[in-house]
Amino acid sequence: MSTAPSMSERADELERRQIEELAERAVVKSFLFHLADGERSFGPRPRGSRRHMGEDPRLPPMPEKPTLLDFFRLRFAPGQAHLLQSANLAQEAGLPEKMVLACLLHDIAIIGFIRADHGYWGAQLLEPYVDEEVSWAIRMHQALRFFPDESVGYEYPDQYRRMFGEDYRPDPYIVADYERARKHRWYMSARMICVNDLYSFDPDVQVEIEQFEDIIGRHFRQPPEGLGNDNTPASHMWRTIRRPCNAL
Ligand SMILES: [Fe+2]
Ligand SMILES: [Fe+2]
Repeated sequence: MSTAPSMSERADELERRQIEELAERAVVKSFLFHLADGERSFGPRPRGSRRHMGEDPRLPPMPEKPTLLDFFRLRFAPGQAHLLQSANLAQEAGLPEKMVLACLLHDIAIIGFIRADHGYWGAQLLEPYVDEEVSWAIRMHQALRFFPDESVGYEYPDQYRRMFGEDYRPDPYIVADYERARKHRWYMSARMICVNDLYSFDPDVQVEIEQFEDIIGRHFRQPPEGLGNDNTPASHMWRTIRRPCNAL
């Protein structure tokens, strides 16, 4: 007597078929990924002529109209405690909701896209969907992290001494952005990201993204057609995070 396949057997079968299909198409990586490995090359020539396009079966499937939370759950690096803790601190300090959102998203480029110049990339990714002050603050926290501000008790991070060495000095463009930011009316908003930008956190405080669902709902303009399916100057960036191995 034959028995019907169970849910998990069907899921395994689907995954096997998807991986087989992928095996017939070559996954080619963006040049940047090779460059990050110190190689100025496209890597070995892929076998066969077909290139992968479309959804990547190795990654969790995304809904048709993905939201910011879908990206957090299905694409961004797991263990986002740093961002959640930062937002939690901002909330406990009684900062306005949009600043809690800024703290929650300040390192979005690190957890989901590109580390280098992360403040600038993060701001660009978010700009069409958040208040201008939020994306400005996220952009500028990149520079402000390197400069103390005694008025709010912010010192040059010890962690940076360990990570970059005692003799590390920020690049001139960072210094120039810091000088500009200092005179800006939203300076304190970017500074507040730094103040709540902790490296270490209390392991006893467990913060979940759901805590901020309402704030995201009120302050992040989620496009009804889904991030990436909309038509903003950042839509293509969301599509690339969703399908990072499209050949073109
Ligand atoms: Fe950062
Ligand atoms: Fe951070």
